[in-house]
Amino acid sequence: MSAIGIHDIHAATAHHVLDLDLLAAHRDVDPAKYRLGLGQDRMSVPAPDEDAVTMGASAAAALLRRTGTDGIRALLFATESGVDQSKAAGVYAHRLLGLPPQVRTAELKQACYGGTAALQTAIGLVARNPDDRVLVIASDVARYALDSPGEPTQGAGAVAMLVSADPALVEIEPVSGLSTADVDDFWRPNDRDVPVVDGRLSVDAYLDALTSAWDDFRARGGADVSRIDRFVHHQPYTKMARKAHARLAEHTGAGIGADLIEDGLADNRQIGNSYTASLYLGLCSLLRRDDSLAGKRIGLFSYGSGSVSEFFTGVVRPGYADAMRAAGGMDLDARAPLDLDAYRALHASSGARSDDAETPRVTTAPFRFAGVRGRARVYEATA
Ligand code: CAA
Repeated sequence: MSAIGIHDIHAATAHHVLDLDLLAAHRDVDPAKYRLGLGQDRMSVPAPDEDAVTMGASAAAALLRRTGTDGIRALLFATESGVDQSKAAGVYAHRLLGLPPQVRTAELKQACYGGTAALQTAIGLVARNPDDRVLVIASDVARYALDSPGEPTQGAGAVAMLVSADPALVEIEPVSGLSTADVDDFWRPNDRDVPVVDGRLSVDAYLDALTSAWDDFRARGGADVSRIDRFVHHQPYTKMARKAHARLAEHTGAGIGADLIEDGLADNRQIGNSYTASLYLGLCSLLRRDDSLAGKRIGLFSYGSGSVSEFFTGVVRPGYADAMRAAGGMDLDARAPLDLDAYRALHASSGARSDDAETPRVTTAPFRFAGVRGRARVYEATA
């Protein structure tokens, strides 16, 4: 069977940005705790007319301008900040993107692991019908309670990936290491807008899941650690990925230095957590910054609280660097800065609602959430 993997990838984030020094000053915390202790500098904050659907559709629209829509038979939308308990976020995106009706559209959820569930499902679909292509969208708004420990790790972002046979960017290899464990480290009950978090437990659960998934990966014949050239670990905040890498080095006894994860962390420092998208924002960050990866193997660790995790690998294809350069990327300096009061007001006013209301027109992204009419969510192009 020919290679299957990521043919194209595009990331997007939210309209606003908050500098974490402002949050540190407000909370009377040493700014170094956020910059060094958590490894985060800024966080993306959605405008009132943005959500997981608008960010995901914006990322996908940019990708589809390059790839076209021919052969796309499925749209798999991964999110844990979904906008409806029944209708898939992907159905809204499907219309915004002008996809034909002959598409299998569904939403996947398992905390931050959902993006990987979508990617692996897409690979399975392409393996069955190699001429089909699958659009995977991972998109989330990571929002915690104001003044909670998780607040400085908030963020928002989306990644769209086109999965196909003979991919231009990264071949995903068949071996995966898996680990599921029922643990209450982070979850969001149906009647809450923000998650319930046991932060300490979540860090331990993540690290335990990493070694468990790694051991399964090796038992199934996955590459020895010495044959993996770069690593991207799920990034709720970049320090967590550093902890993961150190744990893997200790567990394997291998000399895998922090230099092997550095390029994958750069965007997350500026964006914050993006849950399902976070691992793939990291992959995008690496592919855009390092042009020496052709033929190299990348190890990817996906963790979703609750918990489900997977360690898998991809081999970078020749020509990827030119493709990434031609595609361009996010302009993170173009985000509109918020002061602390504006950020807190936005945070307080966001959250689930289903009563009819128009949404203020703020975002300059390609798509916006116009409001609720007849109890239905209305999305539209901004231009
Ligand atoms: N200068 C430099 N570093 C400082 C510092 C200073 N002045 N003050 C503190 N630090 C360091 C601490 O030493 C600590 O470093 P280590 O982790 O290396 O020990 C770091 O800053 C954080 O300090 P605390 O542990 O005191 O931070 P906290 O308790 O206030 O919050 C957290 C940390 C619990 C992870 C919190 O951010 C949180 O609840 N986050 C949400 C949950 C999360 O992201 N969990 C990660 C695993 S779960 C997952 O991955 C799924 C997901 O996406 C949510």
